[in-house]
Amino acid sequence: EETGKGGYDHYMLKEIESQPESLSNTIRGRIDPEAPAVHLEDFPPGCFQDVTEVHFVACGTSYHAALYGARLLEEANVRVRTSRASEFTGRIPDPEGTLVVPVTQSGETADTLGALRAAGEAGARTLAVTNVVGSTVAREADEVLYIRAGPEIGVAATKTFSSQVVTLALLVERLTQEIDGAAAREDLGAFLEALSVLPNQIEEVIRTSRAEALSSKYDGRDAYFFIGHALQHPVALEGALKFKEITYEHAEGFASGELKHGPLALVTPGTPIFALFDGKHDEKTHTNAKEAQARGAEIVAVTASERTAAFADDMLVIPDTHPDLSGLLANVQLQFVSYYTARSLGRPIDKPRNLAKSVTVE
Ligand code: G6P
Repeated sequence: EETGKGGYDHYMLKEIESQPESLSNTIRGRIDPEAPAVHLEDFPPGCFQDVTEVHFVACGTSYHAALYGARLLEEANVRVRTSRASEFTGRIPDPEGTLVVPVTQSGETADTLGALRAAGEAGARTLAVTNVVGSTVAREADEVLYIRAGPEIGVAATKTFSSQVVTLALLVERLTQEIDGAAAREDLGAFLEALSVLPNQIEEVIRTSRAEALSSKYDGRDAYFFIGHALQHPVALEGALKFKEITYEHAEGFASGELKHGPLALVTPGTPIFALFDGKHDEKTHTNAKEAQARGAEIVAVTASERTAAFADDMLVIPDTHPDLSGLLANVQLQFVSYYTARSLGRPIDKPRNLAKSVTVE
């Protein structure tokens, strides 16, 4: 049953709507908002105290999840790099102190395996974050942390992105508590509390999303843009990737502040721009979205705040949460936007042309 469509037209929709459950599995037994504490099986307290730098390597959607984790580490003052696995040079200036983290749903992506092997040869410690128990990456890395999302059949990754981001956020908490000079989160209890109710909030998005109606309104435009700042930036990139993968329409994601440094030239009357707000870093996205709107763009604000959305042409509502988690709720809305747009265009949603679930060649 877990791998059947269970009454859904597509695996993708089933997988989007199974996120309350998959995310509950991801966090089960790992968070204690009361203490507050994060428990990661196989990673005893103190096991990260020699780490001085973290280097993520990943492809596709997993790369976007890695960017999310990297931003959290950067904000906590930890040295961090993120490489597309296919661009990883294998150069690690301080292999003793470097933790290389391949992030891969399948655990079989050739580019990511190549980077893992190069990191091992350079003498770095490797910790894989993956969904598939016994996968090649799980066998070859020094250590492994599972995202526990359950099997994902649709080629376009959905529930595994959410579980990757949350798993990385938990890893980040452990790292920042143990790395010398890191600024561990002062609001850990509040953050873990917000995390514990996130599955219910995703359920709320699933129940109330207006993405289907909105998708038909914006059908047939030349291009679709997604913008976000800070943690909403990787979510904007992921929203655009999902959109192009399954709708075959032109979509791009940008950092909000970058819009004016080039992409604005592509904005014409009627260009839809999905602007993602987290309630904390909204200024840049607001200013840049308004700039595009003045040139004819139609803005869809993805936000918990009616006030933030007041200037926009449309709004996709997300529940109020910790700002570091709101990207996950926004992402569910964007998954629906991609899904319903692809469906109205009659695309083969679960098996988009030219793409494979797992790419095992470099
Ligand atoms: C393929 C899939 C993408 C996926 C990427 C990385 O290109 O089509 O959806 O994000 O591989 O996959 P991984 O299994 O390494 O996360």
